[in-house]
Amino acid sequence: MMTLLTGRLAVVTDAASGIGRATAIRLARQGARVVLADIAAAGLAETAALICEAGGEAHCHVADCADPSQIDGLADFAAGIARLDIWCNSAGVAAACPAVDVDPSFYDRILDLNLGGSFWACTAAARRMIPQGRGFIVNISSNAADEPIAGLSLYAMSKAAVNMLTRTLAKELGPHGIRVNAVAPGFTVTPMTVASDADAQALIARNAARSPLGLVGSPDDVAAAVAYLVSDDSRFVTGQILRVNGGITMP
Ligand SMILES: NC(=O)c1ccc[n+]([C@@H]2O[C@H](COP(=O)([O-])OP(=O)(O)OC[C@H]3O[C@@H](n4cnc5c(N)ncnc54)[C@H](O)[C@@H]3O)[C@@H](O)[C@H]2O)c1
Repeated sequence: MMTLLTGRLAVVTDAASGIGRATAIRLARQGARVVLADIAAAGLAETAALICEAGGEAHCHVADCADPSQIDGLADFAAGIARLDIWCNSAGVAAACPAVDVDPSFYDRILDLNLGGSFWACTAAARRMIPQGRGFIVNISSNAADEPIAGLSLYAMSKAAVNMLTRTLAKELGPHGIRVNAVAPGFTVTPMTVASDADAQALIARNAARSPLGLVGSPDDVAAAVAYLVSDDSRFVTGQILRVNGGITMP
């Protein structure tokens, strides 16, 4: 256990899997008490067990992070435990579809979670952090916000909007002592990217070849960036998009 975040309460969404799970584990390892949120109850329980077995503190809350009222319920749940210091929005869906084939339900599925969920979560967190005069918000964006990829128009739009949401809120909330940043991962090995791919190794090799480092990301690479942004080491950093992408894009 390191103690960089001791005494802080952190909400992490998408905590049942991938980047959210790694982030929750990393923040707990650095001393934070964590509230784990996701729609997948079994995955949440697994993450909580990993944290508790290592001596940390974790509280599970099942929530659909596309639903503003459930997000507000999550914020109330967390604020009922302790002062809400940290909120990391990692819940997101990626699905490809040519723009000409998108129907309204597909549109809503991507935008309601990736963009709406981030907006409502940031505002729910901020409303509770403003009276405290302190807080840390991190949105998980994506490399796709910078790099057009055919078939991913809605996903890319949602993440580009998350970047602008991050910058705008950094201006609105900075005077209240709240820092708002985003981490934009490149290809990261998680269930989102490899679980459904029949040839995962070839997919990984293709993406590694695009990086000047010859690497793909791990969920812990992203988690480490989040941990930096919610610590006092980054006290002069707000409104930034920290790209953890192996150098694939350098806008
Ligand atoms: N993996 C990558 O290469 C990559 C790259 C860039 C950005 N990202 C972003 O990172 C974030 C996490 O992705 P990941 O790779 O860890 O994905 P993942 O598939 O491993 O996990 C997604 C999690 O989100 C949960 N979830 C889905 N819908 C939800 C909802 N409505 N409410 C609450 N939880 C919900 C799922 O249950 C799952 O636990 C996403 O925002 C994604 O866009 C991932």
